[in-house]
Amino acid sequence: MYHPVYWIVFSATTALLFIPGVPVRSGDATFPKAMDNVTVRQGESATLRCTIDDRVTRVAWLNRSTILYAGNDKWSIDPRVIILVNTPTQYSIMIQNVDVYDEGPYTCSVQTDNHPKTSRVHLIVQVPPQIMNISSDITVNEGSSVTLLCLAIGRPEPTVTWRHLSVKEGQGFVSEDEYLEISDIKRDQSGEYECSALNDVAAPDVRKVKITVNYPPYISKAKNTGVSVGQKGILSCEASAVPMAEFQWFKEDTRYLEGTGATLKQSRLIMHPPEGGLATGLDGVRIENKGRISTLTFFNVSEKDYGNYTCVATNKLGNTNASITLYEISPSSAVAGPGAVIDGVNSASRALACLWLSGTFFAHFFIKF
Ligand SMILES: *[C@@H]1O[C@H](CO)[C@@H](O)[C@H](O)[C@H]1NC(C)=O
Ligand SMILES: *[C@@H]1O[C@H](CO)[C@@H](O)[C@H](O)[C@H]1NC(C)=O
Ligand SMILES: *[C@@H]1O[C@H](CO)[C@@H](O)[C@H](O)[C@H]1NC(C)=O
Ligand SMILES: *[C@@H]1O[C@H](CO)[C@@H](O)[C@H](O)[C@H]1NC(C)=O
Ligand SMILES: *[C@@H]1O[C@H](CO)[C@@H](O)[C@H](O)[C@H]1NC(C)=O
Ligand SMILES: *[C@@H]1O[C@H](CO)[C@@H](O)[C@H](O)[C@H]1NC(C)=O
Repeated sequence: MYHPVYWIVFSATTALLFIPGVPVRSGDATFPKAMDNVTVRQGESATLRCTIDDRVTRVAWLNRSTILYAGNDKWSIDPRVIILVNTPTQYSIMIQNVDVYDEGPYTCSVQTDNHPKTSRVHLIVQVPPQIMNISSDITVNEGSSVTLLCLAIGRPEPTVTWRHLSVKEGQGFVSEDEYLEISDIKRDQSGEYECSALNDVAAPDVRKVKITVNYPPYISKAKNTGVSVGQKGILSCEASAVPMAEFQWFKEDTRYLEGTGATLKQSRLIMHPPEGGLATGLDGVRIENKGRISTLTFFNVSEKDYGNYTCVATNKLGNTNASITLYEISPSSAVAGPGAVIDGVNSASRALACLWLSGTFFAHFFIKF
């Protein structure tokens, strides 16, 4: 007995075994003619279309060697597979909600004048890039090694790049890989890093990771200050550090510690106030900490205030100090010193300029109207 599917199996296996990947064009026949490869995104529907003519007596669509549809008869148990068109000129099926495992060769198989013929089409499934796993924000000490990871999926496989956002445009690409490895990390390598996963299916998927690099305090500004008795004097000390430094002020007074044989630079400790707070208990002196800067203010400088002060900046990685001198200048130089003279000249010339400008303005005004 003739089984109606023999021809399908025969033609399909012929195609698969002997001419894999190449559409069969036996004889002079132009049919069946499946379309070019079909590219769809995951979740979308794919239409598999086969152009035929009225010489065609039997038609079928196969997924690899499995029959999906033979004529109007559904062989596939997959509910996503439906028949769209079965006319003398076209035989089409649709696969709904396409997933990555549907990717592969599909074969349109026909019989004309008792000759089996096939045409193959590849279903290509695309998936937008998506970052699946990325390192969390991290805090490390300067000098250590850091590895950031960014794992992305997508079809075609996305290209993953890492960029340092805290640097100038064009210099930011630090790695064209899923892994970003930084050995012996420096403080200027802290900041935000952006992982970007790119393929040509959809907009890139982008996520950020922040690296915080701890380093011990470094005093960047500490200037000696001259002030005369009775005036206001300000000593200021600026330190950069991560985490932010805490400040302490000492007045130099070297003292020998009995029994230890050590000389300790220990003295009148000027109280260390909380961040942004005020030191109390010292008449006419105030310590103020604002971020990177600590200031020591003498509201009414007296003789005993002159001398060397030590600003100590500390964080958990270490401490550093700077010596700052509050020195005396004579009241006359404070009033008639070069600074004061320059200031006087400035205000005088500013006043003159003002007068001249308003003059010009009025002249202009009268000419115009
Ligand atoms: C096609 O075949 C593959 C492999 O057997 C299978 O995973 C997939 O579900 C099939 N797709 C359809 C639409 O039949
Ligand atoms: C169709 O896809 C297959 C597999 O990816 C490939 O080998 C073939 O060259 C493609 N054909 C066309 C016409 O693009
Ligand atoms: C992310 O990757 C890391 C390292 O491969 C692994 O330990 C972790 O379990 C992954 N997390 C997720 C959510 O996949
Ligand atoms: C500054 O201190 C001196 C000496 O104690 C005092 O005579 C003077 O009035 C004070 N000046 C101000 C502005 O408080
Ligand atoms: C203060 O420091 C300067 C320079 O570091 C030094 O020359 C001076 O002797 C010191 N003065 C006192 C009173 O310690
Ligand atoms: C200041 O730094 C020097 C050298 O690092 C150290 O010997 C000294 O003890 C420090 N002074 C204070 C008050 O911390």
